[in-house]
Amino acid sequence: MLEIKDLTRWLPPEAIGLYEERKFKELYPPQAEAIERGLLDGKSMLLAMPTASGKTLLAELAMLKAALQGRRSLYIVPLRALATEKYDSFCKFKSLGVAVGISTGDFDKRDERLGKNQIIIATSEKADSLMRNGAAWVKDLAVLVVDEIHLLNDAGRGPTLEMTITKLRRLNPKMQVIGLSATVANGREIANWLEAEWVSSDWRPVRLREGVICNGKLVFPDGEADLETKRDEALALVKDTLSKEAQILIFENSRRNAEAAASKLCGLVPPGQETDALSESILATGESETCQRLASCVSKGIAFHHAGLLPEQRRLVEQGFRENKIKVIASTPTLAAGLNLPARRVLIKSYKRYEYGSGMVPIPVIEYRQMAGRAGRPGLDPYGESFLIAKSNAEMQELMEHYIFGSPEEIWSKLASESALRTHLLSTIAADFVSSEQELKEFIGTTFYAHQQDPWHLDATLERVLEFLVENGMIKGSPTGDLCPTRLGSLVSRLYIDPLSAVIMIENLQSKGAKESQKDRKPLEKKKPSDLALMHLITMTPDMDLLYVQAADSWVEEFIEAHQDELNDEENYDFLLREAKTTAMLMDWVGEVREELISDRYRIGPGDIRREAETAEWLMHSLAELSKHRELGITFKAEQLSQRIHYGAGQDLLSLLNLKGIGRVRARKLYQAGVTSVEKLKSADSSEIARLLGPKIAEKVIGQLKREEMQP
Ligand SMILES: Nc1ncnc2c1ncn2[C@@H]1O[C@H](COP(=O)(O)OP(=O)(O)OP(=O)(O)O)[C@@H](O)[C@H]1O
Ligand SMILES: [Mg+2]
Repeated sequence: MLEIKDLTRWLPPEAIGLYEERKFKELYPPQAEAIERGLLDGKSMLLAMPTASGKTLLAELAMLKAALQGRRSLYIVPLRALATEKYDSFCKFKSLGVAVGISTGDFDKRDERLGKNQIIIATSEKADSLMRNGAAWVKDLAVLVVDEIHLLNDAGRGPTLEMTITKLRRLNPKMQVIGLSATVANGREIANWLEAEWVSSDWRPVRLREGVICNGKLVFPDGEADLETKRDEALALVKDTLSKEAQILIFENSRRNAEAAASKLCGLVPPGQETDALSESILATGESETCQRLASCVSKGIAFHHAGLLPEQRRLVEQGFRENKIKVIASTPTLAAGLNLPARRVLIKSYKRYEYGSGMVPIPVIEYRQMAGRAGRPGLDPYGESFLIAKSNAEMQELMEHYIFGSPEEIWSKLASESALRTHLLSTIAADFVSSEQELKEFIGTTFYAHQQDPWHLDATLERVLEFLVENGMIKGSPTGDLCPTRLGSLVSRLYIDPLSAVIMIENLQSKGAKESQKDRKPLEKKKPSDLALMHLITMTPDMDLLYVQAADSWVEEFIEAHQDELNDEENYDFLLREAKTTAMLMDWVGEVREELISDRYRIGPGDIRREAETAEWLMHSLAELSKHRELGITFKAEQLSQRIHYGAGQDLLSLLNLKGIGRVRARKLYQAGVTSVEKLKSADSSEIARLLGPKIAEKVIGQLKREEMQP
């Protein structure tokens, strides 16, 4: 047994005091094993341990040790919510003089300032982009932690994670690598790839009883209990949980189901005062109908949670649940990974999920365990229970075998996808990781893919991708196999866009210029594309997440008719429909259409509007940069449009919008009252500003203007 105080072998007493303050006494057995096997002596490790087994503590001790020696660590997480949770938790080290930083923002910034910190938290995409932009500190890492490393298996994000780890290891050959993983079938294989010790365990500090609800009974492998009703078992389980003064997290397989489940449960929690303030705070985050529905549920102690909510709304829900003001959350799997929430029970309403092209398919065992594992977290609950629902005894048996007793899946590299390779090969060449085909092959040889499968399978794809990059002027190859990036290639890599996106943007603008001057028979005077044309252009790239078109969206065809002259050529009509719908939404956004109207019109949540806008802003900025590089003549226009997308506002408001505390709505109010610029704001009467903006905001804005004036 290893006690917290025994850590003095590796860490100073002040550091250990931080844990003693929090009443930590002993290390859990798998934690002790990791330390005994050399985690704090710099050994790389893959920790494949159950949920709630305290993997973060191990990672943080290693990072803390390095930090106190003045060395730097990077902690990679898959989700922003997790980044924030870890950041809040690691901030306790500030009292020891350790600086902690977090980076989840813009992609093409170098963020040198981040390097001041000894502990840096970033998403894998952000870490990748920091390397592409040449941040110097990424070459000076003592410890790399990869949280939820089993996501190497994820088709969407796995390749970026894999390339990021491969590159960071190459840049820092002596770096200690700590992978935190769910228990998976081939943990040893991942460990071997990382040249790390494999520490695996089934031990969980808090007992988690996993069961299946069937025919009005809670069935566990070792016994049964009755539920009050057979009819609505989910409702009965929630009632039962509330009667035990405990909290429950319900996982639904769609946003709509999550919202519906939450509404249905309103009224179960006895009314109290404490939710009023929280509900007010949620109302203050926006005006959308979703926001109002959420606020109304929260006032009754219930909430829903999904990616359609604004980050601020999600944070408030998580916090409300942590403070026991919210008793029930109905969520999509957005809450499944890594978070510490005080849920006594978890209910997995459906173990099937819709997958494009395959219909409803059962979720993997690993995902089931992630969800179930949110129940029963140390320090928050004495035990946990999780439930699946079965309609028959036969189904119950199957669920027990497959999920409760079954083995988790294997993790497979997803690097072989052409679009992933296009992006990552370019960045590998552009950031000078390799300078010849031979070196490129050697580099690929160090990926998890090559460790797991014969890299020979990749050769054909590799050749195709290299050809694409050469043909499109992003890299130069020589007959002897040398590879070097062109200026365009370096730019595209730094912008963090798919090389295919760049090709679509450039080709379209070049041909447009040619076509329009032909039409007008004025070869010298090219007609500039309209805002709508540029907006459509960015939606044509593979980097844009397009909205779906549903039966109720017949207006999209009319939109296409009406804007035929402005829309770019698109051969695939199904794509055109989705692009047009997305374009229309973005035009509404920069046209200052109210958010709740956009939500209704396009049937998306406020969180989706922001996410789409964020992507569009980045792509429009990239378009401006490409235009500057290739002299395509729309640089200024695209840059301004990108700014407008950032704020969701008209051109005329841009100068006012640069002030903190002023968004699209307030800026328009000022503008309509004749305060059309920062200059006019400076000379305006302060009581007039207070009347327009409300006293609090007015004070903030006036203070800002004064500070700016004082600066030289
Ligand atoms: N030795 C310990 N004594 C007391 N509490 C501990 C100890 N180690 C960790 N904890 C607490 O256990 C909780 C769960 O830890 P953590 O979040 O690291 O789990 P995890 O292994 O990462 O799980 P998941 O796979 O769900 O992400 C945290 O609140 C942490 O503070
Ligand atoms: Mg974790």
